[in-house]
Amino acid sequence: MRAITALLAKTIHALGGVIATLIMGTAIMSHAVAADIPAIYNSSCAACHDSGALNAPKKGDKVAWDTLKQKKGMPVLLNSVKSGMIQMPAGGLCEDCNDDSYRKLIEYMSK
Ligand code: HEC
Repeated sequence: MRAITALLAKTIHALGGVIATLIMGTAIMSHAVAADIPAIYNSSCAACHDSGALNAPKKGDKVAWDTLKQKKGMPVLLNSVKSGMIQMPAGGLCEDCNDDSYRKLIEYMSK
């Protein structure tokens, strides 16, 4: 009886460890997504927005971005990236971006 109790206790302990690891892993991953805007920019948007290829508004061109934000507004800009434009592929080459990441990427490019 005692052996079984000990075994059970060990199993529960191990399971607890797995669950804790899963929870921590998720927390770390979602944190990485939120914090890694420059990395996402570099691997997706930079291909066009760094050099202004295909006439993309350039990163750091504050005037161009301010004009876009004033004329169209953030919701329209978000929609342009998500559904694509004339030259920009839908999603802007980011496969796991959500609205929040796109909004942050646009803010990042505006500076
Ligand atoms: C293959 C090139 C390319 C990539 C990659 C790209 N863009 Fe673009 N983007 C463009 C071009 C070109 C335009 C100008 C409009 C057009 O001709 O399609 C543009 C325009 C935009 C606009 C302005 C939309 C509007 O309504 O005027 C936003 C916002 C934008 N891009 C965000 C992003 C974000 C965020 C990413 C990365 C997740 C990204 N783009 C990746 C080429 C690209």
